[in-house]
Amino acid sequence: MKSIASVPGKVILFGEHFVVYGIKAILCAIDKRITVTSQFLDEPKIRIKSELGNAEIDLGVLSSLNSISTRFMKPFFYIVKETLKEFNVNKGIEIILKSDIPAGIGLGSSSAACVAVTASVAGLFDRKSKEQVLKRSIESERIIFKDASGADSSVSTFGGLMSYDKNGFEKIDSKNNFSFIIANSNQVHNTREVVLKVSEFKNKNEKLFAEMCKQEEGLVREALLRLKENDLNKLGSLISENQELLEKINVSTDRLDLLIKEASKTSYGAKITGAGGGGCIICLVDESNAMATLENLKKISDCFIAKIDFGGLIYCNPS
Ligand code: MEV
Repeated sequence: MKSIASVPGKVILFGEHFVVYGIKAILCAIDKRITVTSQFLDEPKIRIKSELGNAEIDLGVLSSLNSISTRFMKPFFYIVKETLKEFNVNKGIEIILKSDIPAGIGLGSSSAACVAVTASVAGLFDRKSKEQVLKRSIESERIIFKDASGADSSVSTFGGLMSYDKNGFEKIDSKNNFSFIIANSNQVHNTREVVLKVSEFKNKNEKLFAEMCKQEEGLVREALLRLKENDLNKLGSLISENQELLEKINVSTDRLDLLIKEASKTSYGAKITGAGGGGCIICLVDESNAMATLENLKKISDCFIAKIDFGGLIYCNPS
């Protein structure tokens, strides 16, 4: 028996980094997905295969996760360990990840992978609710990134548009018809390191950072209103204001600044999405300016169009 789960990536419209300090963020799931297939093995092994690498351990090694050297695989082994414990089973499992979410550029591929692995492995025993899947996948992510806010996993699990803070999420009922052009800086970033850098900035500039948190709160409050009105012009300028705050906390780069300057010529607004320090930018567009923005950015970067995904976590095999 195979258990298959599919989960979307995400973009952050407002509030990355500030969400780590309790400020509300606004996120949106996008139509790029990761699909995970799990099945039992006859051997006592846990085997993980992905485009980014493979790993295999004996079942016995699950009890000492610290000895596993491939860092990005650790959350997956944690998920297997917890699931086997929950169902009181000691069996080998193979997990295969296939993704069309570009990795390491701020589109939530790691969180989406944790959600999909949790759902797929648990599905070998019993189908878990989205709430249960989310809880375990956030735990697994925090094994390697203890400050993870949980925002990315939440939007990947439930899909659509949502606001999120550490108390949880609220879906945003939206009749909006916007989409995003996503342009890749091709600068590699590491979310954990960038979050650490922001924490150093905060520690050195407590007063200034507190002021910025207030400004971010104001932007999010207004953006929630503009989303209801589908006012893309205003939403776009709020996105650009958010970018200014991200520049002030030093998570932009010259390359990202250049992409944003170019995007601002045709889109409603553009900013970094995710941790920054590289990765990609999002440009808010609709049918009136999507092609012009895409054509223009194509001259200087790898880019593509992304639409809102409303499905979130989907179990792909029959129940
Ligand atoms: C990463 O996509 C978003 C950050 O705010 C970190 C987090 O929320 O865990 C930078």
